Amino acid sequence: MYGNFKIKENPCILGLESSCDETAGAVVRGRKILSNVIISSASEQAKYGGVVPEIASRAHTDAVNKVAVKAVADAGLTFKDIDAVAVTYGAGLLGALLVGLSFAKSLAYTLNVPLIAVNHIRGHLSASYLCSEELEPPYVTLLASGGHTAVLHTKSYTEFEVLGATCDDAAGEAFDKVARVLSLPYPGGPNVQKTAETGKPVIPFPQALVKNSRNMQFSYSGLKTAVINYCHNSAQKGEEINIHDVACSFQRSAIDPLVAKTVESALKLGVKTVTAGGGVTANDYLRTSLSQACQKAGLKLILPEKVYCTDNAGMIASEGLVQYKAGNFAPLSINAQAHIPLV
Ligand code: KG4
Ligand code: ZN
Repeated sequence: MYGNFKIKENPCILGLESSCDETAGAVVRGRKILSNVIISSASEQAKYGGVVPEIASRAHTDAVNKVAVKAVADAGLTFKDIDAVAVTYGAGLLGALLVGLSFAKSLAYTLNVPLIAVNHIRGHLSASYLCSEELEPPYVTLLASGGHTAVLHTKSYTEFEVLGATCDDAAGEAFDKVARVLSLPYPGGPNVQKTAETGKPVIPFPQALVKNSRNMQFSYSGLKTAVINYCHNSAQKGEEINIHDVACSFQRSAIDPLVAKTVESALKLGVKTVTAGGGVTANDYLRTSLSQACQKAGLKLILPEKVYCTDNAGMIASEGLVQYKAGNFAPLSINAQAHIPLV
């Protein structure tokens, strides 16, 4: 019979992630990360200029067993040592999620350990616990990924307040669209960053912020349109554009408001610690400016290593620990969800 779990103080949790184009497995013991394995289908997806859901699902089917076996082996453990299986059940591509979720269900059942269903975004928020054993709420988090952009107040391990969010596109989405306009290959974000490195911020694109709004609101659609218009107008006039300057100017307009509002929020709340998560927080310009701004404001910044900012299973295992401690175990009947509210 499935159930009657032994609850431990420092459980070994296997995390599994398959929401988009990365199949990932990782093991934590308590907050300590023991292994982190990622097999990505990004190079296959690059041929199509973006993620093709069926290719992603098939790649997960091929890789899910491999990442689980390697994550457990790299941790120096066997499957008998695993105390819980944490898996992303949403948000993401439905077919892709179902591969990881179904695998995790079978494994949890076979090992007779709790199944923990993790909201992918909560995973991004919990990545910070992997790089600081001392980190405890309350703190302010900058979340910037391909689907979400927000500043949050983490009040306790399981209570969050969204202080401000994007009212249209996500920051990562804007990076990916600008990459397309500049004919840069998939994945867009890292290639825009690379192109920006040798550019100057000389083009006055609008900031990704709704000015004079009562609540803090970011906006990427105006910025994205400004970049598209700039490129099209230059092409119509037969003028050559400097893609490095475009990328650099865009990057600043996209990131400066995120950094400013994150620091401003922490100061306003009197919270002393700032964390960050999501693929866009792997951006070098963001990392440097957030570090400098926090230092100037006397705030402690807990910034996960880049590999824990983009999609990975370490963050899923980390959030798995939060849910394990809260006793939030999922039934084996749980289904995948393409959309889940932010927190
Ligand atoms: O968190 P993530 O890996 O997946 C989602 O949950 O969405 O974020 C992916 C997003 C993509 O839009 C990607 O272009 C962006 O993060 N990204 C970056 C960088 N690395 C990834 N954006 C800017 N600079 C980067 N270095
Ligand atoms: Zn993600």
